[in-house]
Amino acid sequence: MMSKSLCFSLLIAVVCVQLANSLTCYTCINANDCKSARKTTCTNDAANETSYYLGVYHQNVRNLSSYRFDCMALKYTFPNNNSITHQLHGCIHPDVNACNLVLKPEFSSWRKAKCTVCSGDKCNKNPAGKMSSSHYTIVATVLALTLAKIYA
Ligand SMILES: *[C@@H]1O[C@H](CO)[C@@H](O)[C@H](O)[C@H]1NC(C)=O
Ligand SMILES: *[C@@H]1O[C@H](CO)[C@@H](O)[C@H](O)[C@H]1NC(C)=O
Ligand SMILES: *[C@@H]1O[C@H](CO)[C@@H](O)[C@H](O)[C@H]1NC(C)=O
Repeated sequence: MMSKSLCFSLLIAVVCVQLANSLTCYTCINANDCKSARKTTCTNDAANETSYYLGVYHQNVRNLSSYRFDCMALKYTFPNNNSITHQLHGCIHPDVNACNLVLKPEFSSWRKAKCTVCSGDKCNKNPAGKMSSSHYTIVATVLALTLAKIYA
């Protein structure tokens, strides 16, 4: 009994540490670039870069540093023809509040087609739409199998 619960705790700890320590987000900086987004491991550097690009057309983007990161997916379109005027994916400081930022006056006609801030590896989805095998599915499967073994 002792060893079972110890094993379970260890498993949870390993999963949690992994999730906390290395978040991976899809990263791209404009509509063309987003056709082949890269995968970036979140660091202050990476999140600062996202802040920088956000600051090009938003007001009051704060310079921050953080211990925890989220992934972001953002897309603006022209209101008249729905073509993409701006697209940005990447790691983000949670406190930047990316989806609540206000556009600079000269860009205020853009329509926000999509904005997501999420936590979890690659949760901001490949903008090119290709399916990728989810880390979560693998972890969940291993967890389920192990539990089944322990409690069988
Ligand atoms: C990110 O920006 C913050 C705030 O300006 C700064 O303190 C920090 O050093 C930067 N981090 C990196 C890795 O550039
Ligand atoms: C944020 O930091 C960068 C680099 O350190 C700097 O160029 C930029 O002006 C800063 N932005 C604000 C709003 O302080
Ligand atoms: C959509 O409208 C914008 C602004 O009116 C224009 O600059 C852009 O070229 C248009 N795009 C397409 C594909 O028609």
